Amino acid sequence: MKTLVLANQKGGVGKSAVATLLAHHFRLLGLRVLAIDLDHQGNFSDPVRKSQRAAVAEMPASGLLTQSNPAIPLAEFVLVAADPELSGLERQPSLHNTFANHFRAFLAAMDSRFDVCIVDTNPNPDIRMTTALASADCVLSPIQLNQEAMDGVSALLNHPRVGVRRIKAVLNPKLHLIGLYPTMVEATPLQRENFMQLLQKYSPMLIPIGSKPGEIASMPRRSAVAEAQAEGLVLWEMKKTAARDAWREIEPGLRFIANTVLSPTPASTTTTTLPLNGANHGPVAR
Ligand SMILES: Nc1ncnc2c1ncn2[C@@H]1O[C@H](COP(=O)(O)OP(=O)(O)OP(=O)(O)O)[C@@H](O)[C@H]1O
Ligand SMILES: [Mg+2]
Repeated sequence: MKTLVLANQKGGVGKSAVATLLAHHFRLLGLRVLAIDLDHQGNFSDPVRKSQRAAVAEMPASGLLTQSNPAIPLAEFVLVAADPELSGLERQPSLHNTFANHFRAFLAAMDSRFDVCIVDTNPNPDIRMTTALASADCVLSPIQLNQEAMDGVSALLNHPRVGVRRIKAVLNPKLHLIGLYPTMVEATPLQRENFMQLLQKYSPMLIPIGSKPGEIASMPRRSAVAEAQAEGLVLWEMKKTAARDAWREIEPGLRFIANTVLSPTPASTTTTTLPLNGANHGPVAR
């Protein structure tokens, strides 16, 4: 099983929408999908639940951190949905190590039952994000093309607690940053300018999907995407031409991302324990 985490400390950048599209896309490919929503807002859980494609675990997502050996349904598409308890986990620092180890052990136990696990996270650098990144194979960061998001890119890498560099150095050397995935892209002069800046400054973190410069994975702003999220519909199955057009634009990038998640990497999930308490909540000396 490959585990992909959607993460960006910026809110409203499309993490949950991308998680949902990817979950349905992996199902379309015939893969067994485990969907985990670590954000108490439930914006990944709601559309997946409404789609009626997944068996919903009785155990809510907080249980994956607080309990050992939680049981989930025997099905090829399972949702472990968000619950209010998730937002209280940060306030129990003495248990953070335990939370991360439970989650890692759970993923290890699911290894042969699913092909891919998609974890949506909350936009706060808290124990949920640390836990998810500490056990994942890959991380994808949706971003919006505005100044604030561009300013946030270095935090994605260097945040003292959940920055990818720190997680790789201290907790999870196998973590692979798939890259930045510009979302809600519009053909405005400002967004074009920001896109050029992004290309100049962070080109290695963008996801090339073609041989020409500038051919990178991105998702346009399309009302059909928001509608699919709100109604629990699968974008490419919607009747509207606009939805099918939107999917045609989104599909190459999403397919590339899906292939990257599935591509073999040297290391695999292990059941080693994680040193999360105490010193490593501070900055990493590098
Ligand atoms: N490509 C898109 N086109 C139009 N609307 C979109 C697109 N992607 C996401 N949205 C909408 O934008 C809003 C924010 O997206 P989403 O909830 O996925 O962001 P998020 O990063 O998960 O937010 P949070 O940080 O609060 O968890 C939602 O209403 C969603 O339906
Ligand atoms: Mg979200």
